[in-house]
Amino acid sequence: MKLLVASRNQGKIAEIRRLLDDTGWLVVGLPSLDSGLEIVEDGETFEQNARKKAYAAAEASKMWTLADDSGLEIDALGGEPGVHSARYCGPDAAQIFRNRRIQDCLVAVPEEQRTARFRCVMCLIDPAGKEKVFEGTCEGKIAYHARGSAGFGYDPIFIPEGYSRTFAELGLETKNRFSHRARAMRQVVDYLRTRVRADTKSRKRGHS
Ligand code: IMP
Repeated sequence: MKLLVASRNQGKIAEIRRLLDDTGWLVVGLPSLDSGLEIVEDGETFEQNARKKAYAAAEASKMWTLADDSGLEIDALGGEPGVHSARYCGPDAAQIFRNRRIQDCLVAVPEEQRTARFRCVMCLIDPAGKEKVFEGTCEGKIAYHARGSAGFGYDPIFIPEGYSRTFAELGLETKNRFSHRARAMRQVVDYLRTRVRADTKSRKRGHS
């Protein structure tokens, strides 16, 4: 079975592909669809953006489609960048600049107030157009300095709860055990397993 991930972010596609290892699902991203599909993420919530991306890609592909909208919520910044994470400091800003800007804003904020979380909302659409929405979060703190080279986006400045190293230092294997995306994906995987089993059973019944 093939699953289209409605994203051009190779870091995100790689994480989802890895999380679906051993399930028999073949993960492809928007670049393989070759449709030139561009989706404007102008929703006010992660769910609105995830649904928008999922519907646009599912209509173009007629495949099983999964869209994820995610971001970093920093308590000392009133939840920012949040739903604006991908466009924080402007749509063309380099990620290193976004991370630096956050460091600068938090320079005087003591450790106990540097709390933050990654949030991920996923919208899954089946080839008949039926949707399901899933959510995962990962609590942590913002580091004083960007550290590490693995991952993408805000990984170098995010220290997950219970660790002293950033996601970018911990690497994909560890991140995938408990990240916001992993937590949402676990629910997606359970749902896909149940759905595929039910669909196979009903097809068999139809043929007997
Ligand atoms: P979108 O979900 O594609 O709109 O992008 C969300 C943005 O949030 C990404 O471009 C990253 O900057 C950030 N982001 C989301 N998930 C992660 C993550 O797992 N690690 C680091 N940054 C993330």
